[in-house]
This record gives sequence, structure tokens and C-alpha cells, in this order.
Amino acid sequence: MPATRVLTALAGCLLTLSAALFLVPPRALPDRLAVIAEDAVRIDNDFYSTHDWWHVDQPLRLFNAARIPWFVQQWSHKLSGPSGDERSPTFLDVGSGGGIATEALARSFASARFVGVDLSEGSIVAAQRHAKVSGLDIEYIVGPAYDLPFSSATFDGAVCSDVLEHLHDVPRALSEIARVLKPGGVFVFDTINRTRFSWLLVVRIAQDLLHIVPHAAHDWRLFITPAELDLALRQANLVPCDLAEIVGMRPTVQLRPLFDAILGKYWTGGTRERGLLASLLGPWTLTAHQGGSYLGHATKAPVEEPH
Ligand SMILES: *[C@@H]1O[C@H](CO)[C@@H](O)[C@H](O)[C@H]1NC(C)=O
Repeated sequence: MPATRVLTALAGCLLTLSAALFLVPPRALPDRLAVIAEDAVRIDNDFYSTHDWWHVDQPLRLFNAARIPWFVQQWSHKLSGPSGDERSPTFLDVGSGGGIATEALARSFASARFVGVDLSEGSIVAAQRHAKVSGLDIEYIVGPAYDLPFSSATFDGAVCSDVLEHLHDVPRALSEIARVLKPGGVFVFDTINRTRFSWLLVVRIAQDLLHIVPHAAHDWRLFITPAELDLALRQANLVPCDLAEIVGMRPTVQLRPLFDAILGKYWTGGTRERGLLASLLGPWTLTAHQGGSYLGHATKAPVEEPH
């Protein structure tokens, strides 16, 4: 019957079209490094005030296995003075959220002073509460990345962990970070590259389909490429590491829990306490692939002494 054939063809077309729409990322912004109007993108930075930062299935916690040792390595390497400087350094976490990265860093640098700053009051309260329970002495302050509430040349190191891809004015945040860093201070970061890979994995699969990432947590158009970040860092007087030195992050998928989950044995597998997500996607590791999450560092250029 021709009617059925027409209908089948139509259904096929619709299916192909929706698959294409699902796979194709939106058009990129004309300039990611310009000031981006709030209503130009679909991102909700307000939900963090009530966000359950320390939930067992919080994906951000999984990244720590890869990024924290790398950050610590950069800071230790770059900040160790030629004479084995003994003083205790101070570090700033910009956009510290609930303190997932801050706490892990503070544990790795027992002698250092750590300060976390975040625009979201709810997140700061959650971070303060968790630090207390963890017995960690971290100072958390409510404040914007665009106008950091610290005097110039205060910190030896600064970090933006999963923060840059949420910012509407990246150059302004970077110049603020450069301002509060001491000359020679080291900025470390991890963020997400703007690729088809990250569109599919972070936005379509993790955010829209599986809801591992909260709805409207990311707008892909705000993701930043390593080349864009390289330029923005230089303009902020932060000398970035070589692009070739930048490393990517990927999860190691745990096969055993995956099979257990498929066989319906998840709840007896002892993975319950760690959360299903943490069990399936085991600790993240460093890779050479920068198509998704990647890490890098930059050093504040020494101020030129007047002659
Ligand atoms: C990062 O994203 C840019 C823009 O899509 C792309 O040109 C570049 O190849 C990406 N880098 C990697 C290593 O995938």
C-alpha cells in the first residue's frame, strides 16, 4: 500500500533528522573571549546554591584522581624556590563550589593556607560545613571571580577547576586571578574543550540523556578551546604552558561493576557505598586526548622593575 510506504518514509526522515539534530552541536559564539550576555546562552549557574556537592554520585569527585595530583605536581614543581623555600604558601580556589577540589588540594598541601571563593552563598555554606566535618582549616568566602575580594599579589597559586566553562567574561576573571597572584605565582586549571566529542559526551549523554550532570549546568558554546585559553592567559599576563604540554582527562571504565550491573548483581557487589557512577566510571586518568576535559597551567610573569 502506497500510504504505508509514504508513512514509513516519513518516519524514517523524521528519525534521521532528529538523530542529526541530536548529534550536531549548536553554532559557536562569534567570540568566546568577548563578554557574553546572560541571555545569549542557556546556562544556569544559580542551581549550585542548593546543589548536593558531596553526593556519593557527584561526578566532580571522580575527576580528582586525575587532576589533583597533577595540580599538586605543577604547584610543587614551579613554586619550590632554588634555596628550598620553607615558608608555607597560600593558595586560592576560584569558584570553589562545595570544596571538592579545594579539600583534596588542602590534604595534599598540609602546610599551606587555602582560601576558596565562590559567588554562590549556598555552596560556600556547604563547603564550610564539609571542611569542618573533614577537620580541614580552609577559609571560604562569598565573592565574584570578576572582582576577587583580595589585595593584589596575595597568593602563590590559584586554581579554577571546572569553572572557566561557566564564565561569561573569561578575560576579566583571568586578569583578576593574575592580579591576586604574586609574580611567579602559578595558575592551574581544568576545563572542557569545545569539540563534537564534548558536545556528545558532556552535553547530550551526561547532561541531557543520563542526567549525571544537572540540567542546564553547561552550555556547550561556553566551552573553551586550548588555543582560546592560551590567548586569554597571555593577555592577562599569565604565561601559559606549551599547548603540547596540556593533558586531557578520561575515566577508566570499570568492567567488573559494569558486568555486575548488567547481570543485576549491582546491589550485592559492594559498590553501593561508592555509588553506581563511581563504580562504573572508575578513577579518571590523564591522557593525551584533549577533546573533552583538559588541564593546564600558567605562571604570572614577573613585574618589570623600573630602571
Ligand atoms: C579542541 O577544540 C578545538 C575546536 O573544536 C579543536 O580545533 C581542537 O582540535 C580540539 N583539541 C583536541 C585535542 O581535540
